Amino acid sequence: MGKWFPYIYDFGMKPLEAKRFTAVRKKLLQKARGRVLEIGSGSGVNFPLYQEVQQVDAIEPSREMQKKSASRLQAASVPIYCHQQTAEQLDFADQTFDTVVSTLVFCTIPDPEKALKEIQRVAKPGAVFLFFEHVKMEQPLLAKTQDMLTPFWKKICDGCHLNRNTLALIRQAGFQVRETEEFYKGLFITAVCTYDADCL
Ligand SMILES: C[S@@+](CC[C@H](N)C(=O)[O-])C[C@H]1O[C@@H](n2cnc3c(N)ncnc32)[C@H](O)[C@@H]1O
Repeated sequence: MGKWFPYIYDFGMKPLEAKRFTAVRKKLLQKARGRVLEIGSGSGVNFPLYQEVQQVDAIEPSREMQKKSASRLQAASVPIYCHQQTAEQLDFADQTFDTVVSTLVFCTIPDPEKALKEIQRVAKPGAVFLFFEHVKMEQPLLAKTQDMLTPFWKKICDGCHLNRNTLALIRQAGFQVRETEEFYKGLFITAVCTYDADCL
């Protein structure tokens, strides 16, 4: 991670969070239940938004980002435990979690397919997967623009693949996509998913 990224992330996201994202996060996280795994928790933006869950295990590879989340950890109304891990190698037993949450993370994960497999491994049968991600846009001109911007974007946004088709990756990994909602002409989506290995 670029050294400066943790220090500008919250500042850069503030207008989007205030205008739309915080409401989107709240609506999605209302669906979280039981023991929750949060992938790439960053500066802990979601921490104060969890309500009726037993506990949250938040994994985040960057120590600097974890430090940034300290004040939000204090503001949380549920127990949250932070772990320095990557999504591709989760240090949890099989079938541990009732809910898995990922917000604005899959664009940055170096090996998203491996991460999705790990998520399936640690989720209990019947678990719910809550994604809020930016995705490849359907409109061809906008998708092409995403492709063109991606090499530059990766450099300034800490490895973020602006053109990653995360929803397609989620489907290909065998998740059943139950609900989706689009924002900003389909640049951002929320998806509520389940995974039943027997359905594959
Ligand atoms: C754009 S930030 C999003 C943070 C937070 N989830 C949010 O919604 O604001 C992406 C986060 O993904 C984390 N990340 C990068 N690679 C990862 C990986 N392999 N596994 C888990 N998290 C990762 C980064 O360290 C960063 O904190």
